[in-house]
Amino acid sequence: MAEPHSIESVHPLDAPGAVPAEVAARAAQVIADRTGVARHDIALTLGSGWGRAAESIGELVAEFPAEEVPGFSKPALTGHTGSIRSLRLPSGAHALVIGARTHFYEGHGVRRVVHSVRTAAAAGARIMVLTNGAGGLDPDWAPGTPVLISDHINLTAASPLEGATFVDLTDLYSSRLRALVRELDPLDEGVYVQFRGPHYETPAEVRMAGAIGGDIVGMSTALEAIAAREAGMEVLGFSLITNAAAGISPTPLSHAEVIEAGKAAEAHLAELLARVVARIAETDADGEPVA
Ligand code: HPA
Repeated sequence: MAEPHSIESVHPLDAPGAVPAEVAARAAQVIADRTGVARHDIALTLGSGWGRAAESIGELVAEFPAEEVPGFSKPALTGHTGSIRSLRLPSGAHALVIGARTHFYEGHGVRRVVHSVRTAAAAGARIMVLTNGAGGLDPDWAPGTPVLISDHINLTAASPLEGATFVDLTDLYSSRLRALVRELDPLDEGVYVQFRGPHYETPAEVRMAGAIGGDIVGMSTALEAIAAREAGMEVLGFSLITNAAAGISPTPLSHAEVIEAGKAAEAHLAELLARVVARIAETDADGEPVA
């Protein structure tokens, strides 16, 4: 069982001498015990709009609240579910679905933001699928449009890497996996720009994001993708465009509309992600079956 952590007790990732990889290994052991699945092959983090995808990907093996796993925190936001699910794909591969995301803007530090990714790696996953709801700079992207993330620009001024850890981020969002997805659905691609939030961007910041090469603005995925790469995973990223980014459309942004656009797109996204996961579970980067 996970050790309960009350508000008074020190979070395991903040304890003196805590080693993030060790906390992730403990978390992975709890997941293995709770699910009876020794090794998960693929992991998915489901952001706004992507929550229902888990229902279509495979057969539910186990589900439990994320906060029962060491290092995971309660979700800060409604619209984000807080469960961890283990699914068995038709191919026999096992998928770990993380419905609990800690955002950088919550102010608990990057270790907690990327703990789920490190846990997924410790649980055996070699492919990390990161999904989010985000603002779009392309006026052709109506709310509800899913877009593949081709690269990112990290404007948080933070990194999940600690010490002199130099990690190559070339092809961070695997061109192999993106090509597989585009065979199934010719999605547009874009560069994801992570801001710290939780405020939405100003129109000037959105113009800057465009000027420096960005197409999508959001508050999550870049830091997680870096941690996934550090852990040796292949990364696939999707943004659901929930709204035109600030200043792109004359309408002001509202969190309620972001959630609503996510809900409206859920069925389509669930179907898309189920097909994608089935496809990528066929072979890994070495051409071997994933399971
Ligand atoms: N900006 C940043 N994050 C977001 C947005 C946005 O416009 N929409 C949904 N998440």
